[in-house]
Amino acid sequence: MTPLHPLKGPNKLKLGVFAANADGGLAITDVPERWRATWDDNLATAQIADRAGLDFFLPIARWAGFGGKNKVREWSFETFTWAAGLAAATQRIGLFMTVHVPLVHPLYAAKALATVDHISHGRAGLNIVCGWNPKEFGMFNIPLVEKGYDQAAEWLAVIEKAYASSEPFDFAGDYYKLTNAVSRPASLQSPRPVTMNAAFGGPGRDFAAANCDYLFTTFTDISQAGQHVADIRSRSAHIGRDVGAYTVCHVVCRDTQAEAEAYYERYAATEADHAAVDAHMAGKKEFSSSHDSSAYDLYRKRFGGGAGSYPLVGTPEQVAEEMAAIAAEGYEGIALSFANYLYELPYFCDRVLPLLRSRGLRT
Ligand SMILES: Cc1cc2nc3c(=O)[nH]c(=O)nc-3n(C[C@H](O)[C@H](O)[C@H](O)COP(=O)(O)O)c2cc1C
Repeated sequence: MTPLHPLKGPNKLKLGVFAANADGGLAITDVPERWRATWDDNLATAQIADRAGLDFFLPIARWAGFGGKNKVREWSFETFTWAAGLAAATQRIGLFMTVHVPLVHPLYAAKALATVDHISHGRAGLNIVCGWNPKEFGMFNIPLVEKGYDQAAEWLAVIEKAYASSEPFDFAGDYYKLTNAVSRPASLQSPRPVTMNAAFGGPGRDFAAANCDYLFTTFTDISQAGQHVADIRSRSAHIGRDVGAYTVCHVVCRDTQAEAEAYYERYAATEADHAAVDAHMAGKKEFSSSHDSSAYDLYRKRFGGGAGSYPLVGTPEQVAEEMAAIAAEGYEGIALSFANYLYELPYFCDRVLPLLRSRGLRT
């Protein structure tokens, strides 16, 4: 029998590590200790997270970088092969693959996803992105798709049909036309590995509500964060499904508040890779609706610190308190990034996880 996926496990608030597969992680900084995303550092970080009982390791899908002094994000590991390598070197943690639907044929994705699910004995996860960056897709000479989420719905339907079919099948869709298709083995998880969709706008949320297990989204202020959870819950309840929400935060945790804020100011502002921050913000503003519009004007520092995500900056007690507030807004999980994962994750696990356990959010 397939073991329970970590995202289905007992922890009330699931925690994971986000974007370690890419240069800089989520940060856009020029500090000497910036994250270079070497394989050895990825492996060591994944094993620390695995031993500490974190629930998932989640990559970003990135092909073109944001330029700047460090050619930020130009270096990144492809997520199927990255997850396969980590699956063989970890025991309990969930291993996600983030996939650009228009760039990967669903039959290829079906087999690669199933392969990682078998290597990991049922710990694979899928994070669907439809893409927003025309420069990136231009590399493949593939245009951004008008109705990206319609294609994504067909893409996922092909994967599910491939796993459910013991006989060859035909598929006649608007985006995919398949004849005598087979894909064996199927994933161990049925009908497919745990699936989330990283989106912010209406069409992405409707897609998640109809097809996924979770929406992966951002928020600007904790006080309003619950509105995104209520939105996806009502969209999914409307069609008889129960879809939860995960979010993303960047973390600076230190013994004192002053120490944490000083380091945040240094890596996310004073020594940010400013040209890359400009390019990233301009690209996101122009082509993607990943954040509330106010985030761009008010929170440039959040882009240097964590690609616009919400900052958790402070003592272990302060960070645990804000994480509890995010859980109270209805989020089932938080994907975490750090300026340097290997330097910062051990302290976070040692000092914050016990506080979350004492709040009943972690077992
Ligand atoms: C939490 C989160 C993570 C994302 N990760 C990626 C990624 O790894 N690669 C990517 O190309 N886009 C990523 N995106 C962008 C989305 O897939 C999407 O294109 C963008 O949010 C535009 O939103 P929309 O499709 O809802 O309009 C992410 C978005 C969010 C909110």
